[in-house]
Amino acid sequence: MIPEGRTDMLQFRAEPIPDVGIGLVGLGVRGTEAAARLPQVPGCHLAAVCDVNPRLAELARSSIGVKVYTGEDGYKAICEDPDVDLIYVCTDWYHHVPIALCAMENGKHAAIEVPSAHTLQECWNLIDTSERTRRHCTILENCCYDSFELTALEMARRGVFGQLIHAEGSYHHNLEERWGRTTMRWRLKLNRDCRGDLYPTHGIGPVCQALGIHRGDRLKTLVSMDTAPFNGPRYLKANMGEECADFKNGDQTMTMIRTEMGRTILLQHDVMTPRPYDRGYKLVGTEGYAAKYPVFQVCLGNSDPERVYAGDELNSLLSDYRSPILTPEIEEMASRVGGHDGMDFLMDYRLIYCLNHGLPLDMDVYDLAEWCCISELSRMSLEAGSTPVDVPDFTRGAWQRLHGFSYAL
Ligand SMILES: NC(=O)c1ccc[n+]([C@@H]2O[C@H](COP(=O)([O-])OP(=O)(O)OC[C@H]3O[C@@H](n4cnc5c(N)ncnc54)[C@H](O)[C@@H]3O)[C@@H](O)[C@H]2O)c1
Repeated sequence: MIPEGRTDMLQFRAEPIPDVGIGLVGLGVRGTEAAARLPQVPGCHLAAVCDVNPRLAELARSSIGVKVYTGEDGYKAICEDPDVDLIYVCTDWYHHVPIALCAMENGKHAAIEVPSAHTLQECWNLIDTSERTRRHCTILENCCYDSFELTALEMARRGVFGQLIHAEGSYHHNLEERWGRTTMRWRLKLNRDCRGDLYPTHGIGPVCQALGIHRGDRLKTLVSMDTAPFNGPRYLKANMGEECADFKNGDQTMTMIRTEMGRTILLQHDVMTPRPYDRGYKLVGTEGYAAKYPVFQVCLGNSDPERVYAGDELNSLLSDYRSPILTPEIEEMASRVGGHDGMDFLMDYRLIYCLNHGLPLDMDVYDLAEWCCISELSRMSLEAGSTPVDVPDFTRGAWQRLHGFSYAL
């Protein structure tokens, strides 16, 4: 039960902010991209930036020309800045949660790069603070704004696939070429030290939206199985010169989840093999099927024999299910500003649009928790010999109030 006197954050509306002042924390690879992108998003401005590294902060001062904070406590100062309404967190994984908590405690909304949290305790801390301070805490899951995922979500919402019964998502991304970069060292070390699906949100986020998770159904039980670490220790030795007899993370982790309504999700994580990039996105319904990888495929089974759409016929079918968040003007902006083929821009655009108009955000703090908790829950399952573990009901029963995913427009 939610603590007495407190209400949940489902469909939460904050006061509209006509011109959102953004405080961007973390000016590494991803933060630098965000610093270039955010000033092109209507309805907001970059008010200040922050990096613990004074060299990066100084570089930002000369190139971006906004207020700059640095040092160990720089994030606290930017969270206190009266010109900032939203703290946009692009740091490494260790610092996401303390910065977002500090933002909300100072009356700011928080948006956190993926994966936003790593432990169940971190997920609960973000939920408790968001509910208590009445500030949004959202996850910056850009893959929810990929054009295929947006279209398939719309088809699912309109019942084209019948009742969805199963979905798949994954993060197959061969990072071999990248492990040598200094900015990737913290991530390689995390794979050395932690077992489990360390990067679940690209795979699980879009399918949870299609399944309406915590909007009429909820994740209930999870089981994981992994391979041994075959390539991981080799990459550690090759890139950091370190021998490790006890490398924790398997090269490939599979997680199966069953929902309260008896639907299933298969989630996979593999950043260590040459397998081509693949987010696995698949929706299986009683009357249809959609897959993004390895090739776009839609199959509608309500004709006899079932029909597999391809080529022009597929394009024509997909064009009938344009996402309601896409207007020609927004699509033009997304292709001009870009960022992972425009999905980064669309993610930012939607966040700012909803803050401008005081609307519920597309991804709330419960989405964040449900998608991120997979890291620790998969570890718990693996360490107990692939034993099923319960997924917490982060909404404490409130998931039954809503009926399917929808955008606030
Ligand atoms: N959504 C996507 O497609 C996508 C793509 C790449 C990275 N990411 C995510 O973006 C985040 C950043 O990744 P990156 O590759 O830019 O990492 P990075 O290491 O290049 O940058 C992180 C930056 O954060 C700064 N930082 C760390 N702690 C800080 C603190 N306490 N205060 C202020 N600054 C601090 C570091 O100095 C560094 O400059 C990660 O969570 C990553 O998983 C997401």
